[in-house]
Amino acid sequence: MSIDQTLTSQERLAELDLDQLQQLVGLVEYDEAGDPFPVTGWDAVVWAVGNATQAAAFYQLAFGMELVAYSGPETGNRDHHAYVLRSGAVRFVLKGGVDPASPLLEHHRRHGDGIVDIALEVPDVDRCVRHARAQGATVLEEPHDVSDEHGTVRVAAIATYGETRHSLVDRSRYTGPYLPGYVARRSTHRKPDGAPKRLFQALDHVVGNVELGRMDEWVAFYHRVMGFTNMAEFVGDDIATDYSALMSKVVASGNHRVKFPLNEPAVGKKRSQIDEYLEFYGGPGAQHLALATNDILRAVDALRDAGVEFLATPDSYYTDPALRSRIGEVRVPIEELQARGILVDRDEDGYLLQIFTKPIGDRPTVFFELIERHGSLGFGKGNFQALFEAIEREQAKRGNF
Ligand SMILES: [Fe+2]
Repeated sequence: MSIDQTLTSQERLAELDLDQLQQLVGLVEYDEAGDPFPVTGWDAVVWAVGNATQAAAFYQLAFGMELVAYSGPETGNRDHHAYVLRSGAVRFVLKGGVDPASPLLEHHRRHGDGIVDIALEVPDVDRCVRHARAQGATVLEEPHDVSDEHGTVRVAAIATYGETRHSLVDRSRYTGPYLPGYVARRSTHRKPDGAPKRLFQALDHVVGNVELGRMDEWVAFYHRVMGFTNMAEFVGDDIATDYSALMSKVVASGNHRVKFPLNEPAVGKKRSQIDEYLEFYGGPGAQHLALATNDILRAVDALRDAGVEFLATPDSYYTDPALRSRIGEVRVPIEELQARGILVDRDEDGYLLQIFTKPIGDRPTVFFELIERHGSLGFGKGNFQALFEAIEREQAKRGNF
């Protein structure tokens, strides 16, 4: 399959090509000419955390990410620390307040550790902002240039759900390690001998949790403002246990690089995981990031060895004859998946392997998914039942169910 598209700067840096990305995250062909808001791909996921210095160590030691850039008091930024980490095409920016008056600390008090900015690389910032404004989006930052000795970045930002934003970044004229104001930085951390070069290569999707009854509004926002289209759709009974339910729709950029499932709580007998998120995050926000890996077994083993905890999958999931016949042949024996709690789903295009971590911060809010796609463009619909039951067991332990 030939896909006539450009790579993001991070993808080029990670030496990924379009065929690999098609396998990893399900890229599709599309015609940019008719797109009112062309998006090349992900630029960065920017976090506000309680302790960026320690979080940066966590993502290096446990997630195998690499420190590449830094901004902080030593570089003239007296407000906060910011550590830029990467793994393949995935870039995280971890920010934590230094100045007691830093707005980041206030944000963190309200939301806990979370994602403040899902930044996207676009070829034409001004065109995107013009379209977004005409479609009623809130422009948080007008298009402007920021420059240093490495060149110029053109950037703007629009608001999305809750206090989350989308920065729009054109870095085609920039060669620095991240943005002006940041300096290149490596850590003294050395991976153990034999450790894989990276555990994941790309970002597959970022899920947003929105308020009850507002999912369709946000779906319409992504259609109207950003020219996204619908992918899969899971509604009502599709994702329900006896006690809790959610509604979910998925919107994607033209090339499917950027995929945003949007969830809202549905009425159930007990409080759903989405309700729990909304209460503890203090409103809508990003719920989970799906990291695309080409070897989920190795990634899970490395993460677990480093102390990352995953949701448990009951043995009954693997012995269920209906599941066995539904998933058919996959690249490893089922026992290998069972030993690690990895879930499988299959659709008409192929299959995928996936697993979810427990929340990674103190609040029961943000968590990660690892996903290994083999042709399937789905999100693991067939696993939602098993998954929700596992989440509810955790909720019950926390006294929130
Ligand atoms: Fe997901």
